[in-house]
Amino acid sequence: MKSILKLLRLAVGARRYYHWRTVWRAVRHDADTFTAKGGELSLSSLGHCHGTDKADADHTFAGLTYLDVYERYLRELPSRGKDIAILEIGVREGASLRMWSDWFPDADICGFDIDPSCKRFEESRIRIAIGSQDDPQLLRTAFPETSRFDLIVDDGSHINSMTLAAFDVLFAERLKPGGLYIIEDLGCSYDRLQTDSDVRHQWPGMHYNREGADLDNDREDMDRFFLDRINDIDHLRGDILFLHFWSRICILKKRSDQGATTADQIPNPEPSR
Ligand SMILES: C[S@@+](CC[C@H](N)C(=O)[O-])C[C@H]1O[C@@H](n2cnc3c(N)ncnc32)[C@H](O)[C@@H]1O
Repeated sequence: MKSILKLLRLAVGARRYYHWRTVWRAVRHDADTFTAKGGELSLSSLGHCHGTDKADADHTFAGLTYLDVYERYLRELPSRGKDIAILEIGVREGASLRMWSDWFPDADICGFDIDPSCKRFEESRIRIAIGSQDDPQLLRTAFPETSRFDLIVDDGSHINSMTLAAFDVLFAERLKPGGLYIIEDLGCSYDRLQTDSDVRHQWPGMHYNREGADLDNDREDMDRFFLDRINDIDHLRGDILFLHFWSRICILKKRSDQGATTADQIPNPEPSR
């Protein structure tokens, strides 16, 4: 079945293939697809239709998918117009980028990935740059038409040193004041990914990381990073308004000149369905 689908994708082109796959999934998925609120798609259902793993069982805890969690934070962003810009590190097959593009129908959607083949997922509102997330110069210069983003999601290598290198540049230089920065899949930050799971060969795109790059995580660097941020918040320093931990996710909000708004209140942690 997989090879038939692959052939079909080659025959009709990736863009058309994924468009029709999404429509097909939306039709098949109809019972869960619509929330109680007037047939509006939830972000989780939309993500499921597009095939991102952010809404699957492995990315669900206590009844909440990653996307259920994100939806609570994203409500404060206008969904239409207003120059919304989103950057995600980690494109793979473009599923999450197409989800963002549907959820924010006027937004500027940018993806960054080390795998050059990801370029094929570009569309009119989706731009993709190729490079490694630990290359500060590339992170500074990619997408010159968009200086700062409202939302940055790191779903890239899940190698701690690279996660931290990307954060260093992107949070300070490419995130708007009041913007959100999400680090995903923190479960990996405890794991010796190369030694125990051979991620260089088992995970898509990971073999593009330079030979000799250390792909074994040691959670100490992450712990230090988070503790330093908390220390800054406690001592009224720095640019972070809050960092919220959910299962395997950290969501950081950049301080805005206006300070906290009502939208900065802690979202209700109960599942909405
Ligand atoms: C989990 S996938 C992204 C999935 C996608 N965000 C989604 O939800 O559909 C991770 C991606 O990170 C990319 N990646 C691996 N190492 C990277 C690096 N050093 N810099 C940027 N991207 C990297 C891989 O090529 C892969 O496409």
